Amino acid sequence: MASLANKNILLGVTGGIAAYKAAELVRLLRGAGASVRVVMTRAATAFVAPLTFQALSGQPVHLELLDPAEESAMGHISLARWADLVLVAPATADFIAKLRAGLADDLLGALCLAATAPLALAPAMNQAMWNHAATRENLEVLERRGVRLLGPAAGSQACGETGPGRMLEPAQIVESVAGLLGDGPLAGLAILITAGPTREAIDPVRYISNRSSGKMGYALAEAASALGAEVTLVSGPTALPTPRVRELVEVESADEMHRTVMARAELADVYIGAAAVADYVPNASAAQKLKKSADEMILIMRKTPDILAAVAALEKRPFTVGFAAETDHLEDYARQKLAAKALDLVAANRVGPGLGFDADDNALFVCWKGGETHLPLAPKPILAEQLLRLIAERYHAQNPAQDS
Ligand SMILES: Cc1cc2nc3c(=O)[nH]c(=O)nc-3n(C[C@H](O)[C@H](O)[C@H](O)COP(=O)(O)O)c2cc1C
Repeated sequence: MASLANKNILLGVTGGIAAYKAAELVRLLRGAGASVRVVMTRAATAFVAPLTFQALSGQPVHLELLDPAEESAMGHISLARWADLVLVAPATADFIAKLRAGLADDLLGALCLAATAPLALAPAMNQAMWNHAATRENLEVLERRGVRLLGPAAGSQACGETGPGRMLEPAQIVESVAGLLGDGPLAGLAILITAGPTREAIDPVRYISNRSSGKMGYALAEAASALGAEVTLVSGPTALPTPRVRELVEVESADEMHRTVMARAELADVYIGAAAVADYVPNASAAQKLKKSADEMILIMRKTPDILAAVAALEKRPFTVGFAAETDHLEDYARQKLAAKALDLVAANRVGPGLGFDADDNALFVCWKGGETHLPLAPKPILAEQLLRLIAERYHAQNPAQDS
C-alpha cells in the first residue's frame, strides 16, 4: 500500500455526485498516513454533509472565505501554506472553469491560487460535459500550467450514460497521489517505454503497419508516471490523447524507433518494449507514388533491428521488459523469448480476433527468471498498474543496493 506518512493533503470537494466517494478517499488518505483537511464548495454541501468529512478527517471542515471566525482560526493563506498537495476530488466542470479563469470568489478557488504546492484534480462529470469544447480547452490550459489530472475513468455514469467522466476510484487516487509526492514504488526511476505500431513506407503515400492501437503502452506510461517514475514514451503513430509523461517522442518507422530508443536506453533504469515494431520493412521506399501498371508487384523486405535484444545487450543495460503477442503457445513462446533475448521479464498476451490489439481489456502471462504469474482479464489501465507493481518488485529485488 502507498505511503503518505507526514504528508499534508488539502482536499477540495466540489458539487458533483461523486462527492460521496470523497468520504472514502479521506479514509484511505489517512490510512496511508496523511493528514487531511477538507474544504468544500457550497454546492458540495448539498451532496454530503460537512459533518461526514469532519468525522473522517478528524479536523474541522472549511467552508467560507469571508468568515471572520474562519480567518482567525486557520485562514486561507495558512491553509494554503500547510498543504503539501492540493487535491480536488471530485472536480466539477464548473470548478475546472473557475480554476482556468483564476477566480477566487470562494475559499477553494482562493486556496488554489494561494497555494504553491502541486495541484491535482480528479474530474467527475457527465460524459457530454467532459467532451464539451469548453471543458477540453479549460483542462488543456490547466495542464499546461502544471496542474495534474488524475483520471477520469470511462464507464457507466450516475446519470445513466456511458463514457469518460467517472471519477477514479479512491484507491487509484491515493496511488496517484503517492506517485505525485514521490513515494510510489517507482519513485526516482527513469522508465523508457515504447508503444504503438510502426509504419514502413512503400512509397510516399503507402505503408505497411499492424493492428497495434498503442493502448497498452500508453496505459503503462500513465500508470508508471502515477507510481512515481519519470517516463519517456517513444510512440509510433496512434490516435490516443497525449499521456502525462516527462517526454513523448513521436516516431514513425522501426528504424526511427530503434535510433530513438538506443539514444536513451542507457539513461533508463527500466525499459519496457510494448510497441509492435515491424519485423520486416521494404528494402527501399520509392521516391514517387508507384503506379498500378504491372499485374504483380514484388516487394523485397529486410529484417529490422531487434530493439529489445539490442537494449538487453547494452553494457549498462536497464531492467529490460519485453512484450510478446502470440496467437498460440503463449506461455512457451514467452519463456523462450525471456531466455533467447536475455530479458529480465516478459509479459505475453494472446492476440487474434477481438483479443489484444485495439481491445480495451487484456490478460497477461508474465514470466521472469525464477517465477511466473497470470494477470487475469482487466481494463488495460488496471492491468498496466498491476504489471508495473510486479516490475517494481523485480527491479528492487535485483537492485537492492540502490534502495534507500
Ligand atoms: C444531482 C446533480 C448532480 C451533479 N453532478 C455533477 C457532476 O458529477 N459533475 C459536475 O461537473 N457537475 C455536476 N452537477 C452540477 C454542479 O453541481 C454545478 O455545476 C455546481 O454549480 C458546481 O459547483 P462547484 O463547482 O462550486 O462545486 C450536478 C448537479 C446536480 C443537481
